[in-house]
Amino acid sequence: MSAAEPVDLSVADLHPALGDPALTSMNFLNEVSERYPAAVSLAAGRPYEEFFDLAAVHRHLDTFHRHLVDDLGHGPEQARRLLLQYGRTKGIVHHLIARNLAVDEGITVDPEDLVVTVGCQEAMFLVLRALRAGPTDVLLAVAPTYVGLTGAARLVDLPVWPVAGGSSGVDLADLAAQVRGARAAGLRPRACYVMPDFANPSGVSIDTAHRRRLLDLAAQEDLLLLEDNPYGLFHLDDGPRPPTLKALDTGRRVVYLGSFAKTVLPGARVGYVVADQRVAGPGGQVGPLADQLAMIKSMVTVNTSPIAQAVIGGRLLEHGCSLVAANTRERSAYTRNLRHLVAGLTRRFPALPDQSDQPDQPDRPDRPAAVRWTVPAGGFFVVVTVPFPVDDALLDRSARDYGVLWTPMAHFYDDTAPVRALRLSVSAVTPEQIDVGLDRLAALITDELTRRAG
Ligand SMILES: Cc1ncc(COP(=O)(O)O)c(C=O)c1O
Repeated sequence: MSAAEPVDLSVADLHPALGDPALTSMNFLNEVSERYPAAVSLAAGRPYEEFFDLAAVHRHLDTFHRHLVDDLGHGPEQARRLLLQYGRTKGIVHHLIARNLAVDEGITVDPEDLVVTVGCQEAMFLVLRALRAGPTDVLLAVAPTYVGLTGAARLVDLPVWPVAGGSSGVDLADLAAQVRGARAAGLRPRACYVMPDFANPSGVSIDTAHRRRLLDLAAQEDLLLLEDNPYGLFHLDDGPRPPTLKALDTGRRVVYLGSFAKTVLPGARVGYVVADQRVAGPGGQVGPLADQLAMIKSMVTVNTSPIAQAVIGGRLLEHGCSLVAANTRERSAYTRNLRHLVAGLTRRFPALPDQSDQPDQPDRPDRPAAVRWTVPAGGFFVVVTVPFPVDDALLDRSARDYGVLWTPMAHFYDDTAPVRALRLSVSAVTPEQIDVGLDRLAALITDELTRRAG
């Protein structure tokens, strides 16, 4: 828009979230990558495109259609209607998602406690919209925090209080202090958002014993936990995965947020929420929180595209409802890339000790001694800490002069304090691109250190 262009509205007169960095962050990052298309992107957390397969999408649709007819006994007209007409607000693949959670995660879910959503993003929005009942409500979230969560909270006027993550994934003493501090200030913490598996952006995971302690603390403080788990299947080691919080949850403390973006197809835009918490209605009737979320959904997206759900449903059916089985190729590509990136960092910063035995803290140390990085046990993300502030101007220079993109960690903190760290993603690149990207990043860091020393 040019300065001379006539103006009809001012952003100052729209919802305050629209001027907020949490909402402009994604646009800014996309804009930088559009301006420098030749730059290698270690920024995008998108899945690997080599495995995208249009023919498979048609097959999944057919598979799900056959399931409607052969397994569920729908007549041709009814099956056609289910796929092509407006539909059930809570979704049409809920029974398959419940089966998937049983097969892959050991989670037993009543399909009626599930809402199939337009991506996990809508699920987060619905939950936050429902929980934000009044002006004293606040949301706790482990920091650094996924910006999509912070943005959704802004849109429903729900303040986000950061909880320290640290090397354990969530600092329980800080969580308890924040809950009590909020209550002492007359506020009502509604829930704590947490990503126990290979968090975005920190890459940190919570071990099983600490998951149990987190659940105990949530029970003690009467707090809900919002568990977001888009990356859990992509673990490096072949051993068993730790149980999800939801699998350990015996007291309906956990609202579980799921996404098929990384495990099936981001373009389908399908996610879900398990919300089995019992809600008492005004007339004394009791139903799952899922029903309340569906009511909100009916006014936001009406229902998730049944065609998109069918694609997800077909893929699930073709693999016995196991996404572990469906993602063997993907997991090995991400594992290869993550190992390649970490080895590449070690080679390019050889003066530093091997850090594989000291999972680093992606928090914000005031004076980091040198260049350090996290060594996650899986997922897409590595955090590199450097001895100088990393901001959008540096990213712009990195893209323009060095040809490499990454994400400033400042985008994942809900304040303006300088952050000396950046996030690298391994999901949408080849090992060759990782090599080129790391060479360029190393040149940027070296030049920056020299410039600052001089
Ligand atoms: C932590 C986290 N939660 C949720 C989402 C959104 O998932 P979806 O694409 O299903 O909306 C993402 C996407 O990158 C994510 O990283």
